[in-house]
Amino acid sequence: MTKWSPNSWRAKPIQQVPAYPDAAALGDVEARLATFPPLVFAGEARKLKKQLAQVAAGNAFLLQGGDCAESFAEHGADNIRDFFRVFLQMAVVLTYAGAQPVVKIGRVAGQFAKPRSSDNETKDGVTLPSYRGDIINGIEFDEKSRVPDPARQEMAYRQSAATLNLLRAFAQGGYASLENVHRWMLGFVADSPQGDRYEALASKISETMDFMKAVGITSETNYALRETDFYTSHEALLLGYEEALTRVDSTSGDWYATSGHMIWIGDRTRQPDHGHVEYCRGIKNPLGLKCGPSMTADGLLELIDTLNPENEPGRLTLIARFGSDKVAEHLPKLVRAVKKEGREVVWSSDPMHGNTITAAGYKTRPFDRILKEVQTFFEVHRAEGTHPGGIHIEMTGKNVTECTGGARAIRDDELQDRYHTHCDPRLNADQAIELAFLVSELLKKNSNQVHTVAAE
Ligand code: PEP
Ligand code: CO
Repeated sequence: MTKWSPNSWRAKPIQQVPAYPDAAALGDVEARLATFPPLVFAGEARKLKKQLAQVAAGNAFLLQGGDCAESFAEHGADNIRDFFRVFLQMAVVLTYAGAQPVVKIGRVAGQFAKPRSSDNETKDGVTLPSYRGDIINGIEFDEKSRVPDPARQEMAYRQSAATLNLLRAFAQGGYASLENVHRWMLGFVADSPQGDRYEALASKISETMDFMKAVGITSETNYALRETDFYTSHEALLLGYEEALTRVDSTSGDWYATSGHMIWIGDRTRQPDHGHVEYCRGIKNPLGLKCGPSMTADGLLELIDTLNPENEPGRLTLIARFGSDKVAEHLPKLVRAVKKEGREVVWSSDPMHGNTITAAGYKTRPFDRILKEVQTFFEVHRAEGTHPGGIHIEMTGKNVTECTGGARAIRDDELQDRYHTHCDPRLNADQAIELAFLVSELLKKNSNQVHTVAAE
């Protein structure tokens, strides 16, 4: 293999590259970004890798989720807080059911660049370059907005820093304390079936906390009750930006992406000899790899060889995104090949990206298909004797109408009411908590089975 450097990807073929009209302006921004402080630290990425190694070993569960695409327009404190509290609610539901730690990773504080199926978009006979995420161009359908503008990279960096700052405060400043388990509920969720179910669970946790307090274990004496580890992740798509934030860790001498704790390679940019795989192989962060229907067992093993040559547990998370009707056909052969070759990976299910349809003129995802894909993912792992390690979802704390179905049964004709996403349709808070409860039942079933096998 050739020598790696933060810019060795530039010599490789590459997909999904924006056509910046002014190369000098782009170079200036990249040079400036390279002088800015890192957003995350190598030590944090190493800690996350250790926690993911526990997921790979079957001792923890991964919850990864957030916006499909963050936007400059929706950068408010309420937005971040509401996302974080729904995320905490989901994590508590999953922790309780699985009686295992939940590793929490947001698609947040850097999830700005989007791969597109087409370079152009046509509306009413007008064709313009596609929107590629706020870090590249504007979503408005006019010529000026769609021109890639390098100054947006600086905006994305600064927004990521501010978002991360608030998330760190929430995670470590008391908001995430289990003593607040009742307060995380959002008003509009409170009067839904999920609300009642969550309240019942929160009450059980509060009772346990009261008991623990009585025997002297309180959030003041025990930081695990008071704080949580929350990590950030995004697709490493815009490699000039990633390169500028790639830094040597002074402790280990290794290179790290400092744009987020974990980065992943998308399903459209995972060609083994192309730029995105080249960049990712050289940094030491935990990596994700999206696996869609075109992934073969041999292709996957080749990518694992490149991305995790030392077979380090926690380094690589395989994110299966086949579609509810395809997962049973595609996933088993990949799981078998990885197991047979003894590769240590986390298997996670992305039940969003293979289940997108168009209804009433909107891109949407039916809740029952999302659930079906996760259920089948669990069934495949049960059959193969491997660990269904986690889920990867697109969600928001807002009361949007982007995915149909769920307990409140959002209909096709209601999508227009609150359809706000800048890219793919997200689960709203209700739907996200409902999914967590349904996954918690799968986890319970799983742990019962593990215990039965152990007792035999
Ligand atoms: C995404 O996660 O938003 C995405 C584009 O996914 P994929 O690469 O799996 O299509
Ligand atoms: Co998406």
